[in-house]
Amino acid sequence: MNPTPPTLDIESLNHEGRGVAHRDGKAIFVDGALTGETVTYSVYRKKDTFEMAQAVRILRESPARVKPRCKHFGVCGGCSLQHMEPSAQIAAKQRVLEDNLAHIGKVRPETMLSPIHGPAWGYRSRARLSVRLVEKKGGVLVGFHERKSSFVAEMTSCDVLPPRISALIPHLREMIMQLSIRDQLPQLELAATDAVDVLVIRHMVPLAEADEILLRSFADTHRIQWWLQSKGPDTIVPFYPLDAPELAYTLPEFNLVMPFRPSEFTQVNTAVNPVMMRRAMQLLDPQPTERIVDMFCGLGNFTLPIARRAKQVVGIEGSKELVARARQNAERNGIHNTEFRVENLFEIGAEQLAALGHFDKMLIDPPRDGAFKLVESLGDDAPRRIVYVSCNPSTLARDAAVLVHDKGYRLRAAGIANMFPHTAHVESIAVFER
Ligand SMILES: C[S@@+](CC[C@H](N)C(=O)[O-])C[C@H]1O[C@@H](n2cnc3c(N)ncnc32)[C@H](O)[C@@H]1O
Repeated sequence: MNPTPPTLDIESLNHEGRGVAHRDGKAIFVDGALTGETVTYSVYRKKDTFEMAQAVRILRESPARVKPRCKHFGVCGGCSLQHMEPSAQIAAKQRVLEDNLAHIGKVRPETMLSPIHGPAWGYRSRARLSVRLVEKKGGVLVGFHERKSSFVAEMTSCDVLPPRISALIPHLREMIMQLSIRDQLPQLELAATDAVDVLVIRHMVPLAEADEILLRSFADTHRIQWWLQSKGPDTIVPFYPLDAPELAYTLPEFNLVMPFRPSEFTQVNTAVNPVMMRRAMQLLDPQPTERIVDMFCGLGNFTLPIARRAKQVVGIEGSKELVARARQNAERNGIHNTEFRVENLFEIGAEQLAALGHFDKMLIDPPRDGAFKLVESLGDDAPRRIVYVSCNPSTLARDAAVLVHDKGYRLRAAGIANMFPHTAHVESIAVFER
């Protein structure tokens, strides 16, 4: 008779969406298990202080458990929380934010903001899909990486991509298989908008004439626009059709059109971005007399809406290409009260920050590493209000500690936005005042 397999009681979900349990004082992180569940498991990595495991059987189920919608769930590394009901995902993400603020930052928001959410499916307008010729799988694979390996998942659809793009996957696999350079195309980059769907094909060797004919015919049949990338991001050029509508997103509430290149950072979730924008603007509340700074401004996603309401806005960003784009976007929208600067904000010091002059308010939207050096450099003349948009609650919490415990700010409010449903990614927004 088989011995009874050991079980675990799942206590919580960690920031990667794994169930957390303890056994003999050691933490065990369990893929596919939810808070409150009892599971049998199989360990796939053992370390001195923790273990990683896969849930095998769910003996007691969480009421939040649902059947994953996607047939590739569990193998594909794109989503990790499809087995959890979307509203429970939102509650779990809010908990991650509160826990990070409390444990890392030792701070508590005076108010929790209601979570921002949008459609649970078809939300991903930007994606990088890997392409790989795998003879033993009978052809070319197009998709995200597998969850626990660098293999490309064998996908025929993807429910977080817009349905029309998901439906393209089998056709893309078939068409790429016919290209002479099918083993020299490592990736496709997607930028989907209402007006045009752009696919950028990274090719390591030049296309043959027959390849170009295949690409053109594919674009005509499936109504996409191809761009080609022969080397780094600055080599990306439109290929076919050349008369396609301009690649741009819009912010109708602020009467803004924002053109971009497929290599440039834009927010992935086009339904949630305008709601996030509205929330950021409500919190920042720009006034016609105010001078405001937008830190990590990218192509001006927040700078230009602020400029519609404030006296002056300075946008600061590390990428000179994005700063050039932000300037063009201001011009294009008839906005003349902005100024943009290229600065490495991970290195900015107090003197450099003070030299920018007085700002009434500041918006910060940094990458995952956060804005430690920037918040540390705030001096006596610091803005009285800071709105912080974050894609990583642990660095937000670390920076919040500096703002609250060293710089005299109060954490007035914080909340999450479910920018990436079915992933463990937590996007959040916080407002500080002094
Ligand atoms: C989360 S994005 C936000 C962009 C913009 N606010 C938006 O909503 O589209 C973070 C931005 O930080 C920029 N960045 C990354 N490292 C930086 C650094 N060391 N100094 C300044 N900007 C940096 C990136 O180029 C990117 O545009």
